[in-house]
Amino acid sequence: MAMDDLLDNLNEDQLAAVTHETGPLLVFAGAGSGKTRVITCRIAWLMRERHVPPDRFLAMTFTNKASEEMKHRVQTYVGEGPHWMGTFHSVCLRLLRIYGARLGLPGGFVVYDDGDSEVLLRRILREQGLGRERFAGVASWIDRLKNDGVLEPPEPESRQDAECAAVMKAYQEALRAAGAVDFGDLLCLTAQLLREHEDVRLELAQRFDHILVDEFQDTNLVQYEIVRLLLNPQRDICVVGDDDQSIYSWRGARVSNILDFVKDFPDATVVTLRNNYRSRTPILRAATQVVSRNIRRREKTLLAVRGGGEPVLVHGAFDEVQEAAFVVRNVARALADGTPPSRVAVFFRTNAQSRVFEDAMRNRGIPHRVVGAVRFYQRKEVKDV
Ligand SMILES: Nc1ncnc2c1ncn2[C@@H]1O[C@H](COP(=O)(O)OP(=O)(O)OP(=O)(O)O)[C@@H](O)[C@H]1O
Ligand SMILES: [Mg+2]
Repeated sequence: MAMDDLLDNLNEDQLAAVTHETGPLLVFAGAGSGKTRVITCRIAWLMRERHVPPDRFLAMTFTNKASEEMKHRVQTYVGEGPHWMGTFHSVCLRLLRIYGARLGLPGGFVVYDDGDSEVLLRRILREQGLGRERFAGVASWIDRLKNDGVLEPPEPESRQDAECAAVMKAYQEALRAAGAVDFGDLLCLTAQLLREHEDVRLELAQRFDHILVDEFQDTNLVQYEIVRLLLNPQRDICVVGDDDQSIYSWRGARVSNILDFVKDFPDATVVTLRNNYRSRTPILRAATQVVSRNIRRREKTLLAVRGGGEPVLVHGAFDEVQEAAFVVRNVARALADGTPPSRVAVFFRTNAQSRVFEDAMRNRGIPHRVVGAVRFYQRKEVKDV
């Protein structure tokens, strides 16, 4: 696709973000307003118009799928995609493969996925004489520290803290003894590498001319720290995000990162995207009503470019079986009216809820596919590397 077409397909605000010359940039917007499009077009524009070579971008996303899509889109614009584009975990893994020896990591260190770590942690709990029921609590205690980039537990303030700290210490030692790191370690060790080895930090900060982060509202403290440590002196960083869409608070995402960005970078250019290209007016209005109840958000109004649309229907069901029956009845009707099954989606809040829907679908003979939970792609994003 020619460059002119690329810029033609942007609205004024998107264009301002895409062609922003230098210095920190925050693209702040709601769902479906073209944030990801801005990142991909910006990379393409910088490559084509400012002749930034593809190996001088560091672009970070939250899923492999997103990064593959973005790479592909940049490729169709300018023939080549950025070389360093991937999830935070995959980028950190790549950095540690290069510089891990500086931290004493063995050359062929292995990465434990969540399943592997769980097995190890359970073993340690047993060895320390702690009951199985302690697993969830200890695991999230360790996660909380790692989300903040901390691998050495602080002085314990309570007996429970002391127990968790002892488990964590043994767990970390067992990982290292096995020549392994877990997902949290990938981030923590990268932060440690950059904190403690100024030569490495400088080398990398000089290596990347532009850092771009999609879904910035989902970064946790250590991810934000890594990004800041990698910044070059011009601070050419572009983050895009939506404080209303944070879905990872359970794993330490700090919506405040996006709200604090303007404090950390007082000279940042802020671009707000107001047009929503994905949803019809009633859906956008309903979504706005829901998120307007969020605390700690910046007020923003979205306009549905596509207009019109059928009203949203709210149905109160007696219990989950009735609820599933109602949903499946509507799905069956849509299919009977000629809607292809690939155009129908049923969402539910937690995995545990899928069962009733699956049963109801099966009873009616409706073919369906359950799309994986976060755990699924959380694994995949690193295992793919
Ligand atoms: N200027 C535009 N003109 C027409 N369509 C657009 C424009 N900008 C974005 N779109 C379309 O709107 C949809 C959403 O774009 P995109 O995925 O970039 O938004 P987003 O803000 O990243 O969404 P999300 O909040 O889900 O991450 C896509 O189908 C995209 O092609
Ligand atoms: Mg997006």
